[in-house]
Amino acid sequence: MNESIERAAEALRNAKRVAVLTGAGVSAESGVPTFRASDGLWEGHRIEDVATPTGFARDPELVWKFYNARRANVATVTPNPGHLALVKLEEHFGDRFTLVTQNVDGLHQQAGSRNVLEIHGSLRETRCLGCAKVEHRGLEVLEDRPVCPHCGGWLRPNIVWFHEMLPEKIWTDAQYAAGLCDVLLVVGTSAMVYPAASLIPIAKSTRDRGATIIECNLTPTAASREADIGLYGPSGETLPGLLDSLNPQSAIRNR
Ligand code: OAD
Repeated sequence: MNESIERAAEALRNAKRVAVLTGAGVSAESGVPTFRASDGLWEGHRIEDVATPTGFARDPELVWKFYNARRANVATVTPNPGHLALVKLEEHFGDRFTLVTQNVDGLHQQAGSRNVLEIHGSLRETRCLGCAKVEHRGLEVLEDRPVCPHCGGWLRPNIVWFHEMLPEKIWTDAQYAAGLCDVLLVVGTSAMVYPAASLIPIAKSTRDRGATIIECNLTPTAASREADIGLYGPSGETLPGLLDSLNPQSAIRNR
Protein backbone atom coordinates (compact mmCIF):
# COMPACT_ATOMS: atom_id res chain seq x y z
CA MET A 1 0.00 0.00 0.00
CA ASN A 2 2.78 2.44 0.90
CA GLU A 3 4.34 1.90 -2.50
CA SER A 4 1.00 2.55 -4.25
CA ILE A 5 0.44 5.71 -2.21
CA GLU A 6 3.90 6.94 -3.13
CA ARG A 7 3.27 6.22 -6.85
CA ALA A 8 -0.06 8.03 -6.62
CA ALA A 9 1.55 11.02 -4.88
CA GLU A 10 4.25 11.10 -7.55
CA ALA A 11 1.59 11.14 -10.31
CA LEU A 12 -0.10 14.06 -8.53
CA ARG A 13 3.22 15.91 -8.15
CA ASN A 14 3.72 15.66 -11.91
CA ALA A 15 0.15 16.66 -12.75
CA LYS A 16 -0.91 20.07 -13.99
CA ARG A 17 -4.64 19.32 -13.81
CA VAL A 18 -6.51 16.94 -11.58
CA ALA A 19 -10.07 15.67 -11.75
CA VAL A 20 -11.85 13.52 -9.18
CA LEU A 21 -14.91 11.32 -9.69
CA THR A 22 -16.62 10.36 -6.44
CA GLY A 23 -19.46 7.99 -5.62
CA ALA A 24 -21.39 6.84 -2.59
CA GLY A 25 -18.35 5.18 -0.98
CA VAL A 26 -16.75 8.51 -0.11
CA SER A 27 -19.73 9.30 2.14
CA ALA A 28 -20.05 5.79 3.64
CA GLU A 29 -17.83 6.60 6.61
CA SER A 30 -20.04 9.63 7.34
CA GLY A 31 -23.00 7.26 7.71
CA VAL A 32 -24.70 7.67 4.33
CA PRO A 33 -25.56 4.21 2.96
CA THR A 34 -24.22 3.23 -0.48
CA PHE A 35 -26.55 2.05 -3.27
CA ARG A 36 -25.65 -1.41 -4.44
CA ALA A 37 -26.52 -3.66 -1.53
CA SER A 38 -26.44 -7.37 -2.30
CA ASP A 39 -30.26 -7.70 -2.09
CA GLY A 40 -30.70 -5.25 -5.01
CA LEU A 41 -32.90 -3.02 -2.86
CA TRP A 42 -32.19 0.59 -1.93
CA GLU A 43 -33.14 1.14 1.72
CA GLY A 44 -35.85 -1.49 1.31
CA HIS A 45 -37.25 -0.07 -1.97
CA ARG A 46 -36.98 -1.18 -5.57
CA ILE A 47 -34.96 1.35 -7.57
CA GLU A 48 -37.76 1.51 -10.20
CA ASP A 49 -40.18 2.68 -7.50
CA VAL A 50 -38.15 5.51 -6.03
CA ALA A 51 -35.57 6.57 -8.62
CA THR A 52 -37.32 6.68 -11.99
CA PRO A 53 -39.74 9.20 -13.54
CA THR A 54 -42.36 6.45 -13.93
CA GLY A 55 -42.04 5.58 -10.23
CA PHE A 56 -42.64 9.24 -9.38
CA ALA A 57 -45.63 9.50 -11.73
CA ARG A 58 -47.11 6.34 -10.16
CA ASP A 59 -46.64 7.27 -6.50
CA PRO A 60 -45.16 10.74 -5.84
CA GLU A 61 -45.89 10.54 -2.11
CA LEU A 62 -43.83 7.37 -1.73
CA VAL A 63 -40.95 9.00 -3.63
CA TRP A 64 -41.12 12.16 -1.50
CA LYS A 65 -41.27 10.10 1.71
CA PHE A 66 -38.18 8.25 0.50
CA TYR A 67 -36.25 11.45 -0.32
CA ASN A 68 -37.39 13.16 2.87
CA ALA A 69 -35.90 10.20 4.76
CA ARG A 70 -32.63 10.63 2.79
CA ARG A 71 -32.63 14.36 3.60
CA ALA A 72 -33.25 13.67 7.29
CA ASN A 73 -30.35 11.18 7.31
CA VAL A 74 -27.94 13.62 5.66
CA ALA A 75 -28.96 16.32 8.17
CA THR A 76 -27.52 14.12 10.93
CA VAL A 77 -24.10 13.41 9.35
CA THR A 78 -20.90 15.36 8.79
CA PRO A 79 -18.09 15.17 6.21
CA ASN A 80 -15.39 12.59 6.99
CA PRO A 81 -11.59 12.72 6.56
CA GLY A 82 -11.94 11.56 2.91
CA HIS A 83 -14.04 14.64 2.05
CA LEU A 84 -11.57 16.85 3.94
CA ALA A 85 -8.56 15.40 2.10
CA LEU A 86 -10.23 16.33 -1.20
CA VAL A 87 -10.60 19.91 0.08
CA LYS A 88 -6.84 19.96 0.71
CA LEU A 89 -6.19 18.53 -2.74
CA GLU A 90 -8.20 21.39 -4.25
CA GLU A 91 -6.22 23.90 -2.17
CA HIS A 92 -3.04 22.37 -3.61
CA PHE A 93 -4.18 22.62 -7.27
CA GLY A 94 -6.41 25.70 -7.08
CA ASP A 95 -8.40 26.29 -10.28
CA ARG A 96 -6.66 23.33 -11.95
CA PHE A 97 -8.88 20.99 -9.92
CA THR A 98 -12.42 19.73 -10.60
CA LEU A 99 -14.45 17.42 -8.40
CA VAL A 100 -17.20 15.54 -10.24
CA THR A 101 -19.58 13.76 -7.90
CA GLN A 102 -22.40 11.29 -8.40
CA ASN A 103 -23.46 11.97 -4.82
CA VAL A 104 -26.50 14.07 -4.06
CA ASP A 105 -25.74 14.58 -0.35
CA GLY A 106 -23.81 17.87 -0.64
CA LEU A 107 -21.11 16.70 1.80
CA HIS A 108 -18.24 17.76 -0.48
CA GLN A 109 -19.44 21.37 -0.42
CA GLN A 110 -20.17 21.12 3.32
CA ALA A 111 -16.54 20.03 3.82
CA GLY A 112 -15.31 23.06 1.86
CA SER A 113 -14.82 21.81 -1.71
CA ARG A 114 -15.54 24.62 -4.16
CA ASN A 115 -15.32 23.44 -7.75
CA VAL A 116 -17.90 20.65 -7.49
CA LEU A 117 -20.00 19.33 -10.39
CA GLU A 118 -23.06 17.45 -9.11
CA ILE A 119 -23.86 15.37 -12.17
CA HIS A 120 -26.78 13.52 -10.50
CA GLY A 121 -28.34 16.64 -8.93
CA SER A 122 -28.82 17.44 -5.27
CA LEU A 123 -30.96 16.21 -2.38
CA ARG A 124 -31.04 19.80 -1.20
CA GLU A 125 -32.84 21.15 -4.27
CA THR A 126 -36.37 20.92 -5.65
CA ARG A 127 -37.51 21.42 -9.24
CA CYS A 128 -40.98 22.56 -10.25
CA LEU A 129 -42.77 20.47 -12.84
CA GLY A 130 -44.78 23.60 -13.75
CA CYS A 131 -42.35 26.53 -14.01
CA ALA A 132 -39.09 24.46 -13.96
CA LYS A 133 -37.63 26.64 -11.21
CA VAL A 134 -34.84 24.95 -9.25
CA GLU A 135 -34.64 26.01 -5.60
CA HIS A 136 -32.16 25.30 -2.83
CA ARG A 137 -34.19 24.02 0.13
CA GLY A 138 -31.38 22.84 2.40
CA LEU A 139 -32.25 19.72 4.38
CA GLU A 140 -35.59 20.83 5.85
CA VAL A 141 -38.08 17.97 5.61
CA LEU A 142 -40.73 18.89 3.05
CA GLU A 143 -44.36 17.82 2.84
CA ASP A 144 -45.16 14.46 1.27
CA ARG A 145 -46.57 16.24 -1.80
CA PRO A 146 -44.89 19.68 -1.87
CA VAL A 147 -45.98 22.39 -4.32
CA CYS A 148 -44.09 25.29 -5.86
CA PRO A 149 -44.34 28.52 -3.84
CA HIS A 150 -44.20 30.50 -7.11
CA CYS A 151 -46.67 28.80 -9.46
CA GLY A 152 -48.41 26.12 -7.39
CA GLY A 153 -47.03 23.33 -9.62
CA TRP A 154 -45.88 19.98 -8.23
CA LEU A 155 -42.30 19.82 -6.99
CA ARG A 156 -39.92 16.91 -7.49
CA PRO A 157 -36.46 16.29 -6.05
CA ASN A 158 -33.82 17.85 -8.33
CA ILE A 159 -32.14 14.50 -8.78
CA VAL A 160 -31.26 12.69 -11.98
CA TRP A 161 -33.20 9.43 -11.98
CA PHE A 162 -32.65 6.34 -14.07
CA HIS A 163 -33.76 6.86 -17.71
CA GLU A 164 -33.14 10.63 -17.42
CA MET A 165 -30.49 12.82 -19.04
CA LEU A 166 -27.74 14.45 -17.01
CA PRO A 167 -27.87 18.27 -16.75
CA GLU A 168 -26.28 19.32 -20.05
CA LYS A 169 -23.89 22.10 -18.97
CA ILE A 170 -22.70 20.26 -15.85
CA TRP A 171 -22.09 17.07 -17.81
CA THR A 172 -20.22 18.95 -20.57
CA ASP A 173 -18.00 20.57 -17.92
CA ALA A 174 -17.38 17.16 -16.33
CA GLN A 175 -16.30 15.70 -19.68
CA TYR A 176 -13.94 18.64 -20.23
CA ALA A 177 -12.43 18.17 -16.79
CA ALA A 178 -11.87 14.46 -17.48
CA GLY A 179 -10.52 15.18 -20.93
CA LEU A 180 -8.04 17.80 -19.73
CA CYS A 181 -6.75 16.21 -16.53
CA ASP A 182 -3.40 14.50 -16.07
CA VAL A 183 -4.66 12.50 -13.09
CA LEU A 184 -8.21 11.22 -12.51
CA LEU A 185 -8.88 10.04 -8.98
CA VAL A 186 -11.86 7.62 -8.90
CA VAL A 187 -13.14 7.37 -5.32
CA GLY A 188 -15.82 5.15 -3.78
CA THR A 189 -17.79 4.28 -6.88
CA SER A 190 -18.76 0.89 -8.30
CA ALA A 191 -18.33 2.57 -11.75
CA MET A 192 -21.40 0.71 -12.97
CA VAL A 193 -23.65 3.67 -13.74
CA TYR A 194 -23.32 5.41 -17.09
CA PRO A 195 -22.63 7.97 -18.39
CA ALA A 196 -20.80 8.87 -15.12
CA ALA A 197 -18.41 5.92 -15.48
CA SER A 198 -17.52 6.97 -19.03
CA LEU A 199 -15.40 9.78 -17.54
CA ILE A 200 -12.77 7.09 -16.88
CA PRO A 201 -12.24 6.07 -20.55
CA ILE A 202 -12.53 9.75 -21.54
CA ALA A 203 -9.63 10.63 -19.22
CA LYS A 204 -7.72 7.55 -20.26
CA SER A 205 -7.97 8.16 -23.99
CA THR A 206 -7.26 11.86 -23.93
CA ARG A 207 -4.68 13.34 -26.25
CA ASP A 208 -1.76 11.17 -27.12
CA ARG A 209 -1.10 9.62 -23.70
CA GLY A 210 -4.09 9.73 -21.38
CA ALA A 211 -4.39 10.56 -17.72
CA THR A 212 -3.16 8.40 -14.87
CA ILE A 213 -6.18 6.79 -13.22
CA ILE A 214 -5.97 6.27 -9.45
CA GLU A 215 -8.76 4.18 -7.94
CA CYS A 216 -9.59 4.48 -4.21
CA ASN A 217 -12.11 1.90 -3.09
CA LEU A 218 -12.61 -0.83 -0.50
CA THR A 219 -12.29 -3.43 -3.26
CA PRO A 220 -11.48 -3.64 -6.97
CA THR A 221 -14.42 -2.62 -9.20
CA ALA A 222 -15.53 -2.36 -12.82
CA ALA A 223 -13.07 0.55 -13.10
CA SER A 224 -10.03 -1.39 -11.89
CA ARG A 225 -9.08 -2.68 -15.35
CA GLU A 226 -8.49 0.90 -16.44
CA ALA A 227 -6.80 2.03 -13.23
CA ASP A 228 -3.04 2.54 -13.20
CA ILE A 229 -2.83 2.64 -9.41
CA GLY A 230 -5.21 1.14 -6.83
CA LEU A 231 -5.47 2.35 -3.24
CA TYR A 232 -7.68 -0.24 -1.54
CA GLY A 233 -9.13 0.56 1.87
CA PRO A 234 -11.60 3.06 3.34
CA SER A 235 -11.24 6.41 1.53
CA GLY A 236 -11.37 8.15 4.93
CA GLU A 237 -7.94 6.60 5.48
CA THR A 238 -6.39 6.26 2.01
CA LEU A 239 -7.13 9.85 0.89
CA PRO A 240 -5.58 11.52 3.97
CA GLY A 241 -2.60 9.15 3.54
CA LEU A 242 -2.25 10.25 -0.07
CA LEU A 243 -2.37 13.92 0.92
CA ASP A 244 0.27 13.36 3.59
CA SER A 245 2.50 11.76 0.96
CA LEU A 246 1.89 14.62 -1.47
CA ASN A 247 2.54 17.30 1.16
CA PRO A 248 4.88 15.81 3.78
CA GLN A 249 5.42 19.26 5.32
CA SER A 250 1.73 19.79 6.07
CA ALA A 251 1.46 16.20 7.37
CA ILE A 252 4.18 17.01 9.90
CA ARG A 253 2.42 20.28 10.82
CA ASN A 254 -0.90 18.45 11.27
CA ARG A 255 0.52 15.97 13.77
P1 OAD B 1 -22.46 2.16 -5.34
O1 OAD B 1 -23.28 1.82 -4.14
O2 OAD B 1 -22.76 1.47 -6.61
O3 OAD B 1 -20.93 1.84 -5.02
C1 OAD B 1 -20.32 2.29 -3.84
C2 OAD B 1 -18.86 1.93 -3.95
O4 OAD B 1 -18.21 2.48 -2.82
C3 OAD B 1 -18.55 0.44 -3.97
O5 OAD B 1 -17.64 0.17 -5.02
C4 OAD B 1 -17.92 0.19 -2.60
O6 OAD B 1 -16.91 -0.83 -2.66
C5 OAD B 1 -17.30 1.53 -2.31
N1 OAD B 1 -17.11 1.84 -0.89
C6 OAD B 1 -17.94 1.57 0.15
N2 OAD B 1 -17.45 2.08 1.30
C7 OAD B 1 -16.27 2.67 0.99
C8 OAD B 1 -15.28 3.38 1.74
N3 OAD B 1 -15.41 3.58 3.05
N4 OAD B 1 -14.20 3.86 1.07
C9 OAD B 1 -14.06 3.66 -0.26
N5 OAD B 1 -14.96 3.02 -1.02
C10 OAD B 1 -16.06 2.53 -0.41
O7 OAD B 1 -22.50 3.74 -5.48
P2 OAD B 1 -22.14 4.65 -6.74
O8 OAD B 1 -21.06 4.07 -7.56
O9 OAD B 1 -21.99 6.03 -6.24
O10 OAD B 1 -27.45 7.33 -9.04
O11 OAD B 1 -23.50 4.59 -7.56
C11 OAD B 1 -23.61 5.35 -8.71
C12 OAD B 1 -25.02 5.87 -8.88
O12 OAD B 1 -25.94 4.78 -8.80
C13 OAD B 1 -25.48 6.81 -7.80
O13 OAD B 1 -25.09 8.14 -8.04
C14 OAD B 1 -26.97 6.67 -7.86
C15 OAD B 1 -27.05 5.17 -7.98
O14 OAD B 1 -28.18 4.70 -8.52
C16 OAD B 1 -28.56 8.07 -8.94
O15 OAD B 1 -29.17 8.27 -7.92
C17 OAD B 1 -28.96 8.63 -10.26
